Amino acid sequence: MQAVLEKLIHPEFQQSLAELDMLKGIEDKNGILEVKVDFLTFASPSKALLVEQIKQVSDQPVNVVDVTQQRSTQPALGGGALPSVKNVLVVGSGKGGVGKSTVALNIAAALAQEGARVGLIDADIYGPSLAPLAGIEQFGVRMNEHLLQPVEKFGLKMLSQAFFMKPGDSIVWRGPKLHGRLELFCSHTEWGELDFMVVDLPPGTGDVVLSLSQMVPIGGAVIVSTPQHVAVGIASKAIDAFGKLNVPLLGLVENMSYYSCPSCGKADNIFGHGGARTTAKEYELPFLGEIPLNSTMLEASNQGMPVVLSHPDSAPAQALRRVAQLAAGRLAVAAVAGYDAIYSNTLS
Ligand SMILES: Nc1ncnc2c1ncn2[C@@H]1O[C@H](COP(=O)(O)OP(=O)(O)OP(=O)(O)O)[C@@H](O)[C@H]1O
Ligand SMILES: [Mg+2]
Repeated sequence: MQAVLEKLIHPEFQQSLAELDMLKGIEDKNGILEVKVDFLTFASPSKALLVEQIKQVSDQPVNVVDVTQQRSTQPALGGGALPSVKNVLVVGSGKGGVGKSTVALNIAAALAQEGARVGLIDADIYGPSLAPLAGIEQFGVRMNEHLLQPVEKFGLKMLSQAFFMKPGDSIVWRGPKLHGRLELFCSHTEWGELDFMVVDLPPGTGDVVLSLSQMVPIGGAVIVSTPQHVAVGIASKAIDAFGKLNVPLLGLVENMSYYSCPSCGKADNIFGHGGARTTAKEYELPFLGEIPLNSTMLEASNQGMPVVLSHPDSAPAQALRRVAQLAAGRLAVAAVAGYDAIYSNTLS
């Protein structure tokens, strides 16, 4: 049986389970075959498919035990300003109001739900919006031995400039101060060991990404667009900017992709549809999914919860979970097989 399982081909990597060193033990337990598998990432998009394949090729009942160790896109520990973080994943766009913060919060929550240790930095220093989306009203954070203590909620560790501002406060800072604040959030915060640090970027392609990319090796970026912004080339600008900063792209998401009627479930392409998928194809980038414009999303943000937790079965929650899995899957592919491999794989 061992030999058959070793030869199974991983659907994303196109390598065998033996080559990827994913089988961590096979044992017959009273007629049931216990197969320990390291899926390489907590939110593996192909886990269900692989479990199914393992069961199909086996000649006896199988119990697959998940013994995943998250792979890392960071260089050897000690590098950069977040040395205890395995993967830094940024969420950005060339434009404001497209749903970056919503997507970032939901990716983070979805990864945590899959068992990963996840941090979330709201890097929108001038206009932080994570706190209300996550239902956090807090002024000041705890310190321990001169290190900031992130706020914990939904199994996530979070930090936002909002925790340092009173309602109605605004920030008027020059670049160096902005850089200093990001440094504080990265290097002077007790994050502990994390599998993923999700970073919610401010709108546009400016200072913050530049500063961040100088501070930490960024594992990859997810670009969020809406159909009407694709039409005016905003997604292309973001692709170009990340390219100039050597930030690897994990793929594109189309948010507010279509209107899904909550009562009849009918889809309506009010802003046009599918533009981000076409842009992804044009740039040979992975397409990570379409998130409907849906009142459940607004309800969730009004409740101060990620929709993947408040309405886990809703269409946007399912789409966002898939985005999280595909992004995590691509990071794992990059960690194991290099970045070129993430652009040649076809899973979506
Ligand atoms: N798919 C969706 N359906 C309905 N509402 C949505 C959807 N995506 C985001 N929203 C809502 O749109 C608003 C803006 O979203 P969000 O704050 O995530 O955008 P952003 O790109 O981070 O904005 P900014 O550029 O200001 O940082 C929020 O109120 C959010 O709840
Ligand atoms: Mg935002």
